[in-house]
Amino acid sequence: MSDTIGIFVAWPYANGDLHLGHVAGAYLPADVFARYHRLKGNRVLMVSGSDTHGTPITVQAKEEGVTPRAVFERYHHQFLKGWQGLGITFDLYTHTDTENHHAIAQSIFRKLYEQEDLYVATEKQLYDEQAGQFLADRYVEGTCPYCGFENARGDQCDNCGRTLDAPELKNPRSRLSGTTPVIRESEHFFINLPAYAEELRQYIEAQEHWRPTVRNFVLAWLKEGLKPRSMTRDLGWGIPSPVEGWEQKVMYVWFEAVIGYLSGSIEWAKNQGTPEAWEKWWKDKEARTYYFIGKDNTPFHTVLWVTELLGYDRELNIPYDVPANEFLNLEGQQFSKSRRWAIWLPDFLERYDPDPLRYYLTAIAPETKDADFTWDGFVTRNNSELIAAWGNLANRVLSFAHKRYDGKVPVPQALDKRDKELLQTIEQGFESVGALYEQVRLRDALKEAMSLAREVNRYLDEKAPWKAIKEDPGAAGTSVYVALRAIDSLKIILAPVLPHTSQQLHEFFGYQEPLFGQQREVHYEEATRGHDAVIYEPTEAEQGSKNRWKLSTLQPGTPIQPPTPLFKILDEAIIEEEVQRLGTDDIVIR
Ligand code: MF3
Ligand code: ZN
Repeated sequence: MSDTIGIFVAWPYANGDLHLGHVAGAYLPADVFARYHRLKGNRVLMVSGSDTHGTPITVQAKEEGVTPRAVFERYHHQFLKGWQGLGITFDLYTHTDTENHHAIAQSIFRKLYEQEDLYVATEKQLYDEQAGQFLADRYVEGTCPYCGFENARGDQCDNCGRTLDAPELKNPRSRLSGTTPVIRESEHFFINLPAYAEELRQYIEAQEHWRPTVRNFVLAWLKEGLKPRSMTRDLGWGIPSPVEGWEQKVMYVWFEAVIGYLSGSIEWAKNQGTPEAWEKWWKDKEARTYYFIGKDNTPFHTVLWVTELLGYDRELNIPYDVPANEFLNLEGQQFSKSRRWAIWLPDFLERYDPDPLRYYLTAIAPETKDADFTWDGFVTRNNSELIAAWGNLANRVLSFAHKRYDGKVPVPQALDKRDKELLQTIEQGFESVGALYEQVRLRDALKEAMSLAREVNRYLDEKAPWKAIKEDPGAAGTSVYVALRAIDSLKIILAPVLPHTSQQLHEFFGYQEPLFGQQREVHYEEATRGHDAVIYEPTEAEQGSKNRWKLSTLQPGTPIQPPTPLFKILDEAIIEEEVQRLGTDDIVIR
């Protein structure tokens, strides 16, 4: 029986390029997890899109003197390229300014309003008299009333992770004019989070499989007590409230962006021509849904989104797991656009291949604590781990087999104890590595997979077929056959992390059907506007839920292709060069 796995990934603000911190925080782990499940023959739906609303977009548009639409369109297209370059296999990557999303967000808003989970109240708001506008979210900064962090934003503190209302900030400053805002009253729609607090607490308590960092954060917050939060804004950009007479209020970006998981699933199903298909992930109680996010997104996914779902329709599945990641730093400092301390994904992909990056970011994944990207670490892991333990192994054995056995997998003699032992170890590896992928312990999964590669190296050191071929060609052929089967198997075990090079290996072994399906850029027309998206076209094996997560059955006599190296050795000189670039004008701010 195959499992049904929903993989929902944070919708990135389309207000600037993606950097490697975003990649390591959400997109890469989601894809590794998705590919593992695709290989297992599970039914995967991976959905995300560009977050096109909110002050991140309007602030950027104002800075550039262009419209919010121009900003989000530009970066949305960059993101589409990035997913294809890095191989992030979204079944659908769309955005939040579609008719479909507007309609579903409004229907959820309306329903919550009708049952009074959303209610109108007058509240004190911050107002910038010079700019003539209310300040919320990123338009205002100040000191966090909880932890004292001085650069908290109007809706969240980046230091302690708490959600805020702008008037709670101490020493608020307008980002529009730099002045101190005054208090004015305005009416907004508030969500009654306290009404759901007890139910949320029971739900979170029961999630014993969650990462302790995530579960404890939410439990501590619930203990402090939830407050109602305003879910509308006085901004000219966003999805209008659907309540009659209140259309000038737009929805708070977080209220509507999280709805994208549902609306994106529905859009995917419609585009497929199977409009009900989304229900498998959302209504089937056996389905498991995972939300891949950075830790700053935790409150919105574990409390706000769950409240919206409970309020909207109890038939809909709430998150099975929210494996939020800690942060990735860069050479010991936080990524920062203004300080030009960043590695942008499009830039990176111009100079380097995707698999070594996927390898490194998974090897240091910030799953339990913050991690640090260093160029030295990247080069060292590439040269002395990825290539030394895996790339060379595959290359060496395939070249030898190709050269010495007539371009074919050699025919083995009876397998001895050591041969069987190796194959057993690899077979067990499918269990042990699989269990780790399954628990979203991707860093450990990769570590375990690499230790299997080292086992194969050890086996070859002992058997030394390159020498044995002279005295005992039969025995040498047997060990080459065993090693090839092990490598053919490791190609699968590593494929979630290294899909491009595993596919290359797959072709060297002569397989016809690709390991994974194709990503494709598409354009969807709606009644009043169109949008571009990337989709994933699954292979036949994936469509047929075929389990490929198992030991290779490579047949003796199978023709193999002469291999080419899977990875490039990186010159140590790039470490210095790349580090020099950081913090300078060579890091283009996009
Ligand atoms: N746009 C937010 C960010 O980049 C993430 C939104 S996730 C969503 O931090 F689910 F709300 F869409
Ligand atoms: Zn704080």
